[in-house]
Amino acid sequence: MLEHQDEHYEHLARMWDDALEQAELDAAWIVAGEATLFFRDDQGPHFKANAMLGQWVPPEYTNPGTRLLVRRGRKAKLYLPRQADYWHSVAPVPDQLASFLDIEVFATLSELADATTGALPPGTRCALLGAEMPADHGSNEQQVAHNPAGLLNYLDFHRAQKTAFELQMMRNASDVGVKGHLAAAEAFRQGQSEFDIHMAYLAASQQSELDLPYGNIVGLNEHAGILHYQHQDRHRPKQHRSLLIDAGGGYAGYASDITRSYSAEGEAHSRFNALLNAMQQHQDKLLHTIRPGLSFADLHDTMHQQLAELLVDQQLVTCSAAHAYEQGITRAFCPHGLGHLLGLQVHDVGGHLGDPHGTAAPPAEHYPTLRFTREIQPDYVFTIEPGIYFMPYFLGRLRQDKAPIQWTHVDELTPYGGIRIEDNVRVLDQGIENLTRDAFARVEAL
Ligand code: GLY
Ligand code: MN
Ligand code: MN
Repeated sequence: MLEHQDEHYEHLARMWDDALEQAELDAAWIVAGEATLFFRDDQGPHFKANAMLGQWVPPEYTNPGTRLLVRRGRKAKLYLPRQADYWHSVAPVPDQLASFLDIEVFATLSELADATTGALPPGTRCALLGAEMPADHGSNEQQVAHNPAGLLNYLDFHRAQKTAFELQMMRNASDVGVKGHLAAAEAFRQGQSEFDIHMAYLAASQQSELDLPYGNIVGLNEHAGILHYQHQDRHRPKQHRSLLIDAGGGYAGYASDITRSYSAEGEAHSRFNALLNAMQQHQDKLLHTIRPGLSFADLHDTMHQQLAELLVDQQLVTCSAAHAYEQGITRAFCPHGLGHLLGLQVHDVGGHLGDPHGTAAPPAEHYPTLRFTREIQPDYVFTIEPGIYFMPYFLGRLRQDKAPIQWTHVDELTPYGGIRIEDNVRVLDQGIENLTRDAFARVEAL
């Protein structure tokens, strides 16, 4: 048994009991989902199981069609299909979880579907959680609610707070990502292409594209200014000015989400280097502010106030910091949110929930891209990812609006694209555990 695993399952059992009770339900089926195909094709996206199941069973033990039955006061039961398949490998049975889950293996999906029919007595109030309501799911005169909001809100809200076991999975996911990041930094210093940097990342982190929690973002020079740049250029550019790499690691279904920005060395790059240092200090300041009870929406606003000062210090605007903040100039330099919840999904669920009962906590109208607005609590894990970008899209608007920009400096920085520095943090009673920086320290010491 892994460390803290028993507490993790005790926590899950308690939480689901409470969730079902407050939703006035007796049971819930978590449905992994089915493999899908592209339109008129026999190819499809890589199967990814419903993340709700991942909290109970790591994805490497989940075949399409898997279901988990959770009942109040009972041991959860895994319905695992293991159809003979000579095209694909079939996931193994997670025997090591037998003390936490009842596990029944089915030779065919239809046998599994039949077993769902008699699984619950008539009159059971039951939810089915998953993208689709399986057509073959036996009802046995139960009242089945598909994805009831009350249950989902409760579970989503509480998923922010990680168990000791989950935290360890996330430390491991951080180590995976950091191994890739160190290799990517070296590939940048050697003047390699985006594609080569991407491949160096994969090899060092021992991940294939299918293992990645999200597609690698590897941007050299101007490409560092495209937030989710999705290509990897095969050609080495004439000059390496900057690299932004946003790439994560997966471990037992949990993700890390890490960004590092690098500058070429030398006097010619001194303005960008100075900006990079200032951005690191900016991130440090934000990290030091984190404490339980703080609203993440307020911290995001603090980011914009600090960014306004940075724009003044780096002589990128000709106005005051107050003016740059109030006129929304900072939003043209950083149009994304300060961070988001992280866990089984990279942008984890529940970021806009004010409480477990579904009270909405949407971001302010002028911060529409902010994914996390909640009050911070111990053991929440989220990202802190301030950025500054020189995007033609926004610079064009600023020019048109005759905004108070120091254009000579901004024009000098535009070929560098931008900077983002992203760490994953766990909130402590006082301060934080920085999963990302700890992982860099651990892996660099190997
Ligand atoms: N990797 C996507 C993000 O940082 O949110
Ligand atoms: Mn992120
Ligand atoms: Mn990221």
